[in-house]
Amino acid sequence: MALVDTKKMFEMAYNNGYAIGAFNVNNMEITQGIVSAIAEEKAPLILQISRGARSYASMSYLKAIIDVAVKENPGIPIAMHLDHGDTFETCKQCVDDGFTSVMIDASSHPYEDNIAITKKVVEYAHDHDVVVEAELGQLGGIEEDVVGVSADDLSKHLTDPDQVVDFVEKTGCDSLAVACGTSHGAYKFKSEPKLAFDVIEEVGEKLPGYPLVMHGSSSVLKEFKDLINKYGGDMPDAMGVPEEAISKAAKMAICKVNIDTDLRMALTAKIRQVFAEKPSEFDPRKYLGPGREAIREMVKRKLHVLGCAGKAAECM
Ligand code: G3H
Ligand code: 13P
Ligand code: ZN
Repeated sequence: MALVDTKKMFEMAYNNGYAIGAFNVNNMEITQGIVSAIAEEKAPLILQISRGARSYASMSYLKAIIDVAVKENPGIPIAMHLDHGDTFETCKQCVDDGFTSVMIDASSHPYEDNIAITKKVVEYAHDHDVVVEAELGQLGGIEEDVVGVSADDLSKHLTDPDQVVDFVEKTGCDSLAVACGTSHGAYKFKSEPKLAFDVIEEVGEKLPGYPLVMHGSSSVLKEFKDLINKYGGDMPDAMGVPEEAISKAAKMAICKVNIDTDLRMALTAKIRQVFAEKPSEFDPRKYLGPGREAIREMVKRKLHVLGCAGKAAECM
């Protein structure tokens, strides 16, 4: 089976109250950790690649790694998605490179410009059978090289439910990332984590049957935060989205949940642990291997939080 787009996955996720995990990949070990988890749990999968990942690993290496994952897992639908495309040119390049889904994130532009840029991407992508995710409202945290809204100001930049019907009608985008109180990175909340479920609910009511996307959905798992801090790291105030909140959103109109920070923290925690416990170790396989294994276990758990474990066959 070849790479798929996200249409069928989102239809099944929407109709059956679960969400698909969209995991960021930057190298072989991260990809293998994720893919071995989905193979065991028989879950549909979105592998997403940021502009940073493209420049770090190069598209040809990443595509070759993903092609192997697809070939080795014929019973699993896998989509290859551009995360946070910033311009029409970036999205066009990714469509031409064989992505099956692209995100155009023009959310920092004025509303009418966001519509114009998104519409142009949709026209090109749809001509090539590629689906498009767009964003309305602004997330916090660090996104590529752009610093987003601060944790204190998240509530002022949430998606306005009164704009969504107009936006989707005018652009033709296939899914919409909503700002609902999450942010990118490891420092999402300063005190009590709080998501704007009312925004998800209202947007969902205005766009019946339409898939929504939640970015910034890492939970900053205690296990990895503690290991990082124990073995020389410095992330004492890191805080993420509680897993119960992710499960609740997944049962609503959220059909795609983006996770990167939890992958980074799993890998970093294990590498730090090996370095601290075995200072004489210098074989990369001896620290990347445990990191890959930690990613695998973490992703398996996430698939149950999202409710998509066991759903691969119905998404084919
Ligand atoms: O949106 C943020 C993702 O975690 C990707 O991060 O741009 O550093 O690869 P990155
Ligand atoms: P996290 O930083 O919470 O993992 O979010 C990742 C993301 O939204 C990628 O687009
Ligand atoms: Zn994001």
